[in-house]
Order: sequence, then C-alpha cells, then structure tokens
Amino acid sequence: MRILAIETSCDETAAAVVENGRIVHSDPIASQIDVHRKYGGVVPELASRNHVVDIIPVVETALEQARCGWADIDALAVTQGPGLVGALLVGIQAAQTLGYLHGKPVIPVHHLAGHLHAVKLHRPGEPAPVEPSKNYIAMAVSGGHTAIYVEKETQPLKQVSNTRDDAAGEAFDKVARMLGLGYPGGPIIEKLARNGDSNAHSFTLPRFKDGGNDFSFSGLKTAVLTKLKNRIQPDQLPEGRERADLLASFQSAVIAQLADRLERAAKEEGVFDVILAGGVACNGALRSHLRERFDNIGLNLFVARPRWCTDNAAMIAGAAFHSIEHEKALI
Ligand code: KG4
Ligand code: ZN
Repeated sequence: MRILAIETSCDETAAAVVENGRIVHSDPIASQIDVHRKYGGVVPELASRNHVVDIIPVVETALEQARCGWADIDALAVTQGPGLVGALLVGIQAAQTLGYLHGKPVIPVHHLAGHLHAVKLHRPGEPAPVEPSKNYIAMAVSGGHTAIYVEKETQPLKQVSNTRDDAAGEAFDKVARMLGLGYPGGPIIEKLARNGDSNAHSFTLPRFKDGGNDFSFSGLKTAVLTKLKNRIQPDQLPEGRERADLLASFQSAVIAQLADRLERAAKEEGVFDVILAGGVACNGALRSHLRERFDNIGLNLFVARPRWCTDNAAMIAGAAFHSIEHEKALI
C-alpha cells in the first residue's frame, strides 16, 4: 500500500510517498528556516503563506521522485494537529482537495504519532531497522513537546509525563536566541558545545514535590540568563571557549533531565524498549548518552535517523498506515 502524506504543522512544507508505512520512496521538504531565522523563531502568518506557495510543488516533487502517478497512490495522509492552526489548515485543505480530485481517502494523523513511527522508516533496498516490541515507552522531544508515552499489548498508548513549562527544543531555541546564535538553536548549540567543557557550570536537576517524571526547562533557561547577566562585561555576549563551556553545560543539563525521567519512567512501567523521537532526538550527545546509559541497564533504544527525527511527511505516512492496520485488526 502506498500512501502520499503531507505535513505542514510548523515551518516545513513536506510530502512523502511511503510503502507499507516503512519504505520511503520520496520525502521532499521545503524548509522555511531562512524565512524565520531573522525573527529568532517561527512567525505563524509567514509559515502559512509559505506553505501555500510550496505545497503543490512539494507534492509534485514527491510523486516524481517516487516515480509514481496518482494511480499508484492508495490513500492520502495529513497531519491534523497539534501545530500552528493556519499552517495545518494549508496541508489539510491541500490533502482534502487532492483526495477529492483523485478519488483517494484522506487519513488524518496526530503529529506526535508520526514522530513515534519514524523509527520504522528506511529507504528502498536498505535493511529494515529492528522495531520496538508492542510494550514500549516513548519520549517525544521537539520544539513544541516534551512528553513520555507508554503503550503495552494490554494497554493503549497513554501519556505518563509532560513538561510543566517549556519544551526541550524550545529551551535550545531560547538559549540560542539569548546568545544571538540564530534559529533553530538545537543544531547550532550542539555544534558549539563540542568544544566546551560540560562540567564548567553546574545546573540543578528540577524535582517536583509530587514526584512524577514531569519536565521543566524554564528554570534552566533563567539560570543561563542569570549567568550571562553576572559576567564581568554583561553587555557583551560571550564567545569562544567561554560560550562553548556555557553551552556544553546547558546541553548536558538538558540531557541529564531527559535521561533521568526516561529511565525512571521505563523502570516504573516495566518496559525494556525505549523510543526517542522528535527534533531534539537529532542531538548526537543525547543519543550517545542514552545509548551508553541504557546498554548498562538492559534497555533497548530506538531512534530514527536525524532526517526523520525533525518534522517530515514520511513519519505521517507511517502513522497513517499503522492506524489502518490497527483498525483492520479490530474488524
Ligand atoms: O520535531 P521538530 O522538527 O518540530 C516540532 O515538532 O517542534 O523539532 C524542532 C526542534 C527545535 O526546537 C530545534 O532546535 C530542535 O528540535 N533540534 C535540536 C537539534 N536539531 C533540532 N535540538 C538539539 N540538538 C539538535 N541537534
Ligand atoms: Zn514535530
């Protein structure tokens, strides 16, 4: 079964042709990063307007690159939310119109379900990645979400923790903005942090009185801001080694919190398969920290390749296929 998926929830106009929810024949993305960079974050109105311009060319490119015509497509899938309302509407309208014109059903997909399915994707001819079992825990870490979900054979997907303020990706973006580093902050911080000492500054791990594995990043963001204000020359932004040390310490504090919550939640839920999903999952330091930590305690880490961690349409096709399979199983 071939699904043509559309994703326009934020600042990427993406389409993809995916076979059986796993084999990615094409996945072009028109990125708006250059449009939003000068504002230090996504401007919703500009995102919607750019989606309108890019959506049809991106869908046409997806079909061309997959060497497909409409006759080869069995269904359309589209992100229905969560995301920027105006941006989502462009994708939904495009999918409904194309579905009507070409006589194809349109499958609505939850954006986070898409992120969780990215671990199953691969290119034609490549070996299929090992997939998590039906008992797993998943952490979605993106610009809009930092949450943990659990699914078991005996229990449908449920959320077990959330952020109480900022999302982890948002913290990366805001700290980058404070230091005048541009948008999106995650990849820039990761690169600069490589030259820094992660022990140069210590940041405390937030804990909540009521326990739980919830996240909080706003205190960390304020702690970075305080360090900037307390410098000998607070009017100048740090550079070189000083900046690298601050960023490496910040990144390590984010990783420590994510790993701490994820490990505890996995133990509490009694599952061994752990999915890491969303844009922040691109972070090499986070991936290697979790890999090493989990190897030592017998947890299996599943993470998509970086291209499919950030927003893309292939993951939306994956989740749509899964929902059809799921429904078939119920009949
Ligand atoms: O999943 P995504 O593409 O969009 C949302 O659904 O939000 O995630 C985007 C977020 C941004 O906040 C970006 O700074 C962060 O993912 N990100 C990273 C890295 N690459 C992207 N954060 C840390 N390290 C990275 N390498
Ligand atoms: Zn996303």
